[in-house]
Amino acid sequence: MRKSDRGTPRQEVRKYRAGDAGRLAPRVIIGLVIFTTTSVSNLNGAMAETGSPQGVTMVAATDGQKIPESARTTAASLFGDRCAVCHGPNGDGKGPGAENLNPKPQDFRSRKWQRSVSDEKIAKAIVYGGPAVGLSSSMAANPDLEAQPNVVAALVEHIRSLAHKR
Ligand code: HEC
Repeated sequence: MRKSDRGTPRQEVRKYRAGDAGRLAPRVIIGLVIFTTTSVSNLNGAMAETGSPQGVTMVAATDGQKIPESARTTAASLFGDRCAVCHGPNGDGKGPGAENLNPKPQDFRSRKWQRSVSDEKIAKAIVYGGPAVGLSSSMAANPDLEAQPNVVAALVEHIRSLAHKR
């Protein structure tokens, strides 16, 4: 059997590949650019959708362990300024702003409620508002707190501290 019987002669194969690569290179590069841009924008889309709850998961994961004192101070005064009007300074849900609300805010002192709710849900309700956790839109979002996970964690801690003691 002669070499040429086994198919395309070596010489020709090399020539074909070299020429092909030369012609393909620009297309490959353009393809890569398109691929990269679409993947990145998809990624951004995914982050826009899921980034927020993830942020809150992180917040909830702090679990009161490493909350700076300054965040506790900020959270305490923030609760007085923004939340007590509806939730009441003691968390009973009977603030003047809640009078005409339906549904009324939850009584944070209730130990039954405290047991039923996760830190994550509390954090999510605070940052993204009631509708984000299936509750009333009277519970407004606090988007400025998204960038302050320590303060959110401290607010969660504050709400936990309002529970009736045994
Ligand atoms: C305008 C009145 C109002 C203000 C101000 C307000 N809330 Fe609320 N909040 C509500 C109402 C009403 C609900 C209950 C919604 C429901 O049950 O559908 C609620 C629900 C919540 C919940 C979820 C409770 C649950 O049942 O899981 C949390 C946590 C919460 N508020 C925290 C806060 C914090 C912290 C602030 C201040 C940053 C705040 N709220 C400010 C009215 C208010």
